[in-house]
Amino acid sequence: MNNTITSITKTLRVSWQDSVCIIDFNDETKSMNAFSREILTDLDKVISQALATPGIAGLVMTSSKPNCFAAGVDISIFDTLTTQAAGEEASATLHALFQKFADAPVPTVAAINGICLGGGLELSLACHYRICTSHSSTQLGLPEIQLGLLPGGGGTQRLPRVIGVAPALDLILTGKKVDAKKALKLGLVSDVVPENQLLRRAVEICKTSQPISLERKKMGFGQLGQVKASEFAGIDVQKLALETNPIGRTIIERKTLEQIEKNTKGFYPAPKKALEALMKGLSRPLADGLKLEAKLFGDLVVTPESRSLVHIFRVVTAAKKNPFDADAQNAAREKVIQPLLNGDTFVGMLGAGLMGSGIATVLSDKNIRSALLDRDGLGVQRGLRNIQSYFDDRMKKRRIKKFDRDAAIGRIVPTVDLSTFAGTPIVIEAVFEDLSIKHDMLKHCEAAIHDEDFIFASNTSSLPIGRIAAAAKKPENVIGMHFFSPVPKMPLVEIITTDKTSARTASATFDIATKMGKNIIVVKDGPGFYTTRILAFLISEALNILSEGASIEAIDQALERFGMPVGPITLLDEVGIDVGAHIITVLKDAFADRLAIPPELESIIAEDRKGRKNGRGFYTYLEGKKDKPDTSIYKHLKHGDDRKHFDLKEIADRCVFVFMNEAARCLDEGIIDSADTGDLGAIFGLGFPPFLGGPFHYAQQLGYARVAQTLNEMSARYGARFAPASHWTNFAR
Ligand SMILES: NC(=O)c1ccc[n+]([C@@H]2O[C@H](COP(=O)([O-])OP(=O)(O)OC[C@H]3O[C@@H](n4cnc5c(N)ncnc54)[C@H](O)[C@@H]3O)[C@@H](O)[C@H]2O)c1
Repeated sequence: MNNTITSITKTLRVSWQDSVCIIDFNDETKSMNAFSREILTDLDKVISQALATPGIAGLVMTSSKPNCFAAGVDISIFDTLTTQAAGEEASATLHALFQKFADAPVPTVAAINGICLGGGLELSLACHYRICTSHSSTQLGLPEIQLGLLPGGGGTQRLPRVIGVAPALDLILTGKKVDAKKALKLGLVSDVVPENQLLRRAVEICKTSQPISLERKKMGFGQLGQVKASEFAGIDVQKLALETNPIGRTIIERKTLEQIEKNTKGFYPAPKKALEALMKGLSRPLADGLKLEAKLFGDLVVTPESRSLVHIFRVVTAAKKNPFDADAQNAAREKVIQPLLNGDTFVGMLGAGLMGSGIATVLSDKNIRSALLDRDGLGVQRGLRNIQSYFDDRMKKRRIKKFDRDAAIGRIVPTVDLSTFAGTPIVIEAVFEDLSIKHDMLKHCEAAIHDEDFIFASNTSSLPIGRIAAAAKKPENVIGMHFFSPVPKMPLVEIITTDKTSARTASATFDIATKMGKNIIVVKDGPGFYTTRILAFLISEALNILSEGASIEAIDQALERFGMPVGPITLLDEVGIDVGAHIITVLKDAFADRLAIPPELESIIAEDRKGRKNGRGFYTYLEGKKDKPDTSIYKHLKHGDDRKHFDLKEIADRCVFVFMNEAARCLDEGIIDSADTGDLGAIFGLGFPPFLGGPFHYAQQLGYARVAQTLNEMSARYGARFAPASHWTNFAR
């Protein structure tokens, strides 16, 4: 049976080397390997057959797919798990299959090259040995928590038995991935080898080692000497390990629970269940621990939180695909993207303020050169300081080396002279929010840039792109590329096309935003596009409620309890009251029939209240830090200091329903092309709670008919902005 191929399924190829069976998992129909039900059934057969082969000396599980060992279980399986029992059974089935690797009488080795996540890592953990390549694509992790689940293929039981409790908690509760070097340090793999040595080394282990069992292995607190501290809970593992085990465990559990409460604010059930599975599993035999894991997995898979997170995962994955036609993509790649990626050309970054410097930072971080232009040396210097401090900070955190920092900063050429832009195929504009300045900039660029087909992408947050493009020689090359602040952190780019924007222009901006690591929504032009428009309605509603007599803190608290990262009044202070009010006023012109704003806003602005940036807002600020609500602002409002009691749920409902309703109007009008786009934009651009899955997913959970009914009631009480969008009634079920 040496060097022979004995069986092939669609995705699993079995061959033999020196009596060692090698199972090669490679789904050629997909870019990533994922376990579908069919593949799991095939794997079960293949491994049973292999182990029954007389003379077998060992078994290697590997993949010849470049950059992917196994990315986990196919996500569509989760849709079929509609009851707790179905979830529990699916987990138990996976346990039974992976147990075959653990129970094998000959050594089993996972030989990992590339992505090894979720079920892929759980299979590997059931193997007696794990080795991986040093390739940069090699990443190991258990990301199930990000889907509102716990690792249901044995991860909560085997990972702590392999690497210790605290490091296992760190990986499971954060869902983070580790590279080969860290995996070796953690003891997650025993060997890191170059790609071309992977199989040879795996076969060698099979021939020279014995099977190892985790059954009798007690869970430790960490590989002492290898792991200094749990990064998750800030616990000193070595110190705790010196304590008697039960005390150490109690402390770890308590500290971790505190951390979970702080991180999840009680909105996400999965981390607590994962902790329970892991800690209770400590004191039980592996098989009992696995049973508990299956039960808790079943509990989680049917939670609305998990359904929402799985929905988001699916939407994010689908949105990665460039939606423009092949000709447009090719033209954009040839003229814009490839030269940028090769370093042959650069992005013209117009404006070195908050947004311009942020965009240049991310471009540079992704190896794209830019020329950063501002009005004068001071402006450019300010921008460069922002960029420098970003890369300094990453260096301090040891994410990059000094060389990388210097190289990143070196990719940005500061300038005050527009002729520097002469050779660029694309300008991203982030100057002041003023149409005439944007028009001036466009004209100057047209005069300075050689390629008459250069793209002009505006980062405006509220000016219709069509109005900017109206001044262009070639309006087909003008587009909106709306980033969010702070650019390095915020994961969304909203691409705005006009009727005239060419697919080539849109495709180029899509590919650049992708390269910058952003999630993307492509929307149609209109006042406030999608995200600014729906946010304006939410903030206006909060101001209406304030004007009706609610307190600042009640409004913020209501929305935070709903799950928003910050309340709307705090957000307005952050964005700048002047900026926010300007946008709302612009949108008021466009939606005069329904966008209601309290007249008192004017006198608040007249008092030079700009929010955090000048330390005068709805809140007071102490050394730049938000302190208390500034009650002196109440004198501008109808009820003065006489603040009234408002039901927090009523406050949240008003803000959220007006927001959802405007999102649905955007869908009715074709501003967004689908509910999924609406969910993606609201979550990644505006912080809508991920556990609710976005405004449309949330509305679906509530039931469209109920949403329409509530809106009708609110409309009668509060005004036309609540009159239900047709989307709710057209699709009410
Ligand atoms: N701040 C945000 O949260 C945010 C979010 C999304 C979009 N935007 C949009 O991005 C744009 C920039 O906003 P920002 O917050 O970075 O503003 P900013 O005031 O921080 O920066 C604007 C920069 O443009 C420069 N500038 C102005 N006129 C110029 C000219 N003629 N030539 C060269 N440079 C010039 C200014 O000197 C300044 O450095 C605006 O259109 C804004 O609406 C802002």
